[in-house]
Amino acid sequence: MQRLKVLLVTSEMEPFVKVGGLADMVGALPKEVAALGHDVRVVCPLYGSTKRVGTWSARPEPLGVDVGAQAAWARTWETTLPDSAVPAYFIEHEQYFGRPEVYSETDDNPFRFALFCRATLALCEQLDWIPDVIHCHDWTTGLLPVMLNTTLRDKPIGNAATVFTIHNMEHQGLSPHAIVDYARLPAAEYRGDSIESMGQVNMLKAALYHASKITTVSPTYAEEIRRRDGGCGLDHVLRFRGADLLGILNGVDTASWDPATDKALPANYTATDLAGKATCKATLQARLDLTVDAKVPVFGVVARLVHQKGLDLLAESIGHIVERMKVQFAVLGSGDARVEAEFKKAVARYPGRVGAHIGFDGKLARLIQAGSAAFVMPSRAEPCGLTQMYALRYGTLPIVRATGGLVDTVVDQGEQGRGTGFIFREANSAALYQAIGRACATYYDRPDEWRAMQLRGMAVDFSWANSAARYADCYRWAITARTGITPEA
Ligand code: ADP
Ligand code: GLC
Repeated sequence: MQRLKVLLVTSEMEPFVKVGGLADMVGALPKEVAALGHDVRVVCPLYGSTKRVGTWSARPEPLGVDVGAQAAWARTWETTLPDSAVPAYFIEHEQYFGRPEVYSETDDNPFRFALFCRATLALCEQLDWIPDVIHCHDWTTGLLPVMLNTTLRDKPIGNAATVFTIHNMEHQGLSPHAIVDYARLPAAEYRGDSIESMGQVNMLKAALYHASKITTVSPTYAEEIRRRDGGCGLDHVLRFRGADLLGILNGVDTASWDPATDKALPANYTATDLAGKATCKATLQARLDLTVDAKVPVFGVVARLVHQKGLDLLAESIGHIVERMKVQFAVLGSGDARVEAEFKKAVARYPGRVGAHIGFDGKLARLIQAGSAAFVMPSRAEPCGLTQMYALRYGTLPIVRATGGLVDTVVDQGEQGRGTGFIFREANSAALYQAIGRACATYYDRPDEWRAMQLRGMAVDFSWANSAARYADCYRWAITARTGITPEA
């Protein structure tokens, strides 16, 4: 096998900085690809909020970055991903990344990530480490393939293939025209079949046109985004590049997300001995001021409270549900102020039955996964979704809408002898209500069936090994497309 040099470029990465599942994915995949024998490295901006886990050292030379009228200067920090030898680089630039937010609402947001793309390429040259493939993630890295194709083609790094992974079509990185000069892109690229979209630069679209190959994080999402109703306005580009688009399901970091060893839990448990799960439930009930009652099931939520996740559907019907069903809710999330307010109102109105923590809390997220009987995810769209996989591993039955990766990871109860959760189709509160009702009925009336579903879910293999091998194949595919030479597998 030819050892490939692979660089992952990302705006989030566990355990250093996390907003959502992108961080989980990029924290885990590089280690698995390295385990296959490849030379894998990762690069991420250094935000004011980044946690400096492990041993860090600053590279001695400053990094000159080709952006704007006079180049910018950055500094590089180096560490490794925990429990691995995978080098992780962090780009420090006080003005753009010194602030705590990963994504900021300010006008300079696209410029921050344009600088990050150029800095990444400069770092490779400075390290004299030219990757065979650069694996980019989401819009923040969208200009990197354009830079390679247009301004660096005659440099060694210009031979690097690019794989671009779509984690979410809803965020496209729209930017004013001024970014063309700032990122030092040729003026001619400002056209509809490259980086332009409706009078702006669209960084996601740019990547879709320029990357050697495109992946997304589940097979079903790969189909959905080619359709008019699922492509967020870029479905035509994905149909155009359809032969280069692949869906590879995310895995789970099974060492980190394991109820048998999870240190965040008050008690551990396994499929053969679930006693610890009851302790987790009691702790969760106490933690969120729910009535501590072993008989009533807790249904959990852990999510960004944004339109995509559909939790407004739960927020608006939660009263109706707890008035009619014997169930408690444990909610963790933040985002849309209206949805946050609805959940807070429900807590006040239904004390002991609805508990919520508005905020981000990694430890509580794990307690909810472990202490709940079911996990609610009414997503309108879900490229992959990791939390339903965590739920399955923790013996917690997912109640999910039939979309994206949720379809690829949860099997409906109706499929006799195979079910691991409850799936509903329509994105409305009536359909969600029915699914929750179905879950409650199973919990109370058919505990043996519940238990069988639980054990089936806990036994599903979501480890990264399969997907990492598919990414390695995809890297070879991209290299062949870029260079005409196929690396030995
Ligand atoms: P997305 O990336 O769209 O947010 P995923 O299901 O892929 O959805 O990943 C979400 C990740 O973020 C999971 O690891 C989940 O536990 C975590 N998470 C989401 N909201 C919170 C929160 N409020 N507190 C702690 N962890 C959270
Ligand atoms: C995005 C998606 C989510 C996916 C995650 C990791 O944030 O919303 O569905 O699991 O990326 O790929």
